[in-house]
Amino acid sequence: MRRTRVVAVDALAPDAAAVAEARAVLRRGGLVAFPTETVYGLGAAALDAAAVARVFAAKGRPADNPLIVHLADAGELGAVTRCVGPLARTLAAAFWPGPLTLVLDAAPVVPPVVRGGLPTVGVRVPGHAVARVLAGGLAVAAPSANRSGRPSPTTAADVLADLDGRIDLVLDGGPCPVGLESTVVDARGAVPLVLREGAVTREQLAAAVGAPAVGTADAAGASPGTRHAHYRPACAVVLVAAGEGAAEAARRVADGARVGLVAGAAAPPGVVGIALHHGAEDLARRLYRCLRDADAAGLDALVVEAVPEVGIGRAVMDRLRRAAGGPGT
Ligand code: TXA
Ligand code: MG
Repeated sequence: MRRTRVVAVDALAPDAAAVAEARAVLRRGGLVAFPTETVYGLGAAALDAAAVARVFAAKGRPADNPLIVHLADAGELGAVTRCVGPLARTLAAAFWPGPLTLVLDAAPVVPPVVRGGLPTVGVRVPGHAVARVLAGGLAVAAPSANRSGRPSPTTAADVLADLDGRIDLVLDGGPCPVGLESTVVDARGAVPLVLREGAVTREQLAAAVGAPAVGTADAAGASPGTRHAHYRPACAVVLVAAGEGAAEAARRVADGARVGLVAGAAAPPGVVGIALHHGAEDLARRLYRCLRDADAAGLDALVVEAVPEVGIGRAVMDRLRRAAGGPGT
């Protein structure tokens, strides 16, 4: 199988030659994985429908799940959207560059394949230097750079584990600092409507718009991606209450299983310690690492202790429930 080329880039001051090579690949319709502050993205030139179709093929992604278009600057919004209202402007000013995706009315030039056939398009200005210089003047459509259904990648090695030989290039800018995807918000109305929980919290959204009125999409209106199976390692994920992880893991070990633990306290004898975490923010950064490490350790089950559902804890619990195959998956 043809192997994917890997080029190292400095995350803070990306090398011009590396970025120029990646942009040339995108311009000729190729696929480039690149670091963002959240997770690695798998990019194609957003206005090139054939290139975008290759993203879906490489990932094995359902065609009804739209992609996020990455821009270098909010000033480029007009290239892919229309009717940018006051709410969108407020949110862009408050959170860009950063881990917030705004769903807006799409400009007709955005191919339907990018939008999963919807009249809207998700856009964000990422808070990572590599992603921004890559996208300058060249809108980049990019889902997370994993095979569909798998945990999102937070290192170049994770990308290669899923997509080596299926994509042209990976820019290796080291681990992603946030570790969890952007929050997806429908910003067409008067109040933000959260379609996918993510790194920007509801509390932060409410503060930015000056009201506690942050809405939630109902199941039918939620982000199409949330309908599909997601974030699943090969092993079973077992979600338990805080403080109950060690006992649950030990019980499963006694039944003969190979079990790992992600918890606030150390793993008991016989249980593989995958991560000791210090609350939701810490777990957010390392969650996908834990899910991939669990598979690398050949576990039958990974027991994970829940975190409180406030702040970024909401997004962490959303991902954990999906990883565990629970409601909404
Ligand atoms: O942090 C992130 O958002 C990362 C990095 C690479 O930017 N990207 C990412 O992309 O997580 P992906 O494709 O794995 O998830 C995008 C989510 C999906 O749930 C998708 O359904 C939703 O955004 N989405 C995209 N466009 C949409 C639209 N027009 N309407 C509703 N939901 C949309
Ligand atoms: Mg994804």
